[in-house]
Amino acid sequence: FTPIMDSWVYLIFLFLFLFVPSAQAPDPCPPAGEPGSMTVTWTTWVPAPSEVQFGLQPSGPLPLRARGSARPFVDGGILRRTLYMHRVTLRRLLPGAQYVYRCGSAQGWSRRFRFRALKNGVHWSPRLAVFGDLGADNPKAFPRLRRDTQQGLYDAVLHVGDFAYNMDQDNARVGDRFMRLIEPVAASLPYMTCPGNHEERYNFSNYKARFSMPGDNEGLWYSWDLGPAHIISFSTEVYFFLHYGRHLVQRQFRWLESDLQKANQNRAARPWIVTMGHRPMYCSNADLDDCRWHESKVRKGLHGRLYGLEDLFYKYGVDLQIWAHEHSYERLWPIYNYQVFNGSLKFPYTNPRGPVHIITGSAGCEERLTPFSISPGPWSALRVKEYGYTRLHILNGTHVHIQQVSDDQDGKIVDDVWVVRPLVGRRMYH
Ligand SMILES: *[C@@H]1O[C@H](CO)[C@@H](O)[C@H](O)[C@H]1NC(C)=O
Ligand SMILES: *[C@@H]1O[C@H](CO)[C@@H](O)[C@H](O)[C@H]1NC(C)=O
Ligand SMILES: *[C@@H]1O[C@H](CO)[C@@H](O)[C@H](O)[C@H]1NC(C)=O
Repeated sequence: FTPIMDSWVYLIFLFLFLFVPSAQAPDPCPPAGEPGSMTVTWTTWVPAPSEVQFGLQPSGPLPLRARGSARPFVDGGILRRTLYMHRVTLRRLLPGAQYVYRCGSAQGWSRRFRFRALKNGVHWSPRLAVFGDLGADNPKAFPRLRRDTQQGLYDAVLHVGDFAYNMDQDNARVGDRFMRLIEPVAASLPYMTCPGNHEERYNFSNYKARFSMPGDNEGLWYSWDLGPAHIISFSTEVYFFLHYGRHLVQRQFRWLESDLQKANQNRAARPWIVTMGHRPMYCSNADLDDCRWHESKVRKGLHGRLYGLEDLFYKYGVDLQIWAHEHSYERLWPIYNYQVFNGSLKFPYTNPRGPVHIITGSAGCEERLTPFSISPGPWSALRVKEYGYTRLHILNGTHVHIQQVSDDQDGKIVDDVWVVRPLVGRRMYH
């Protein structure tokens, strides 16, 4: 019996995310077989080397090796608990191939996990699971997501802020418990995140330490290409926790604008621009959140005029804006400045004249579901107060399929729409 060894192995929580080294390269047609990368992240409570062993065979030896490094993370709680965050990037992966891997070092290894390397290029159809607001307690929809993942339904996950409720609590032990909860999904799929209000404690340090997203900005804002789509993740929280730095609002805004400019130059190859941010611009829930104010901060910016995102996203023709924060599902008609801009009355989402917003924050947490107000605005197309999550299928350059899965109704699809934008005659919004 070796207690240290024993508990050490037990304390591995795995976290996989993809790494996009060439995210900024304006290269619409990378040479066939160009390698992809995947980064594995895990936690130990004692210092140890960081190694991943992997291979293509489902069983037997794992012939490939990759090394990375570990960084200590000192939690802000009274115990100042120290965790070691290991990061190892696997490179030159065969697009679409399934790999088996384990991580650790000679001091102890995790069990084996599997993932599929992402395909490359623009001619494939990524399938995403999308949700926000998943807690360590009452994670209602998670078992179903886990089953979906095991059945190979997704290529990646978008977790639109609010993790664990809260990762910092109980000297960050709630964060540990949460990572162990999501491991079956997060160790199998690129698990892409943005920060929510529940990550705020100690300047978002649990978020920054536990998730390793692309770019060099601690996962606060970044973007990546996935098939025919360009996906942008950003922080709505910079507008609310100004004491951590007002300059962050401006820095992020400038980055967003330059990233959108680049994405537009590459639009013929990757026509879809999708954003994810935690707090919505619009919502019709019965509460006093930012999205209930006519001039919400996310929409109109600080003081109703500085760094508002609605004009920016409209100007650059963002197609789909994904939000969470409200613990419910709501779909909007194409909208700009409170006005509905349907493509046509009969086909509102075919060649829409404004961005489409989806709010999906009902994966399940201790705060349960958020009720809706009695009278939604004319811009609200559908509201569902049930636990669940969203499936986003980016079929090709012209068709995107959005479905809402209800966990309350045993997996029933309770919303099902297509957004269609032709390549020829694709409208700009203005
Ligand atoms: C909070 O974090 C951001 C980015 O990680 C940093 O730029 C800022 O200075 C920090 N603020 C404080 C008060 O530590
Ligand atoms: C948008 O389309 C929907 C569905 O056809 C319709 O109910 C709604 O009234 C339309 N809104 C406007 C402003 O045309
Ligand atoms: C995208 O898929 C849809 C549905 O299968 C199809 O009708 C459409 O022609 C496809 N578009 C392109 C550009 O291949």
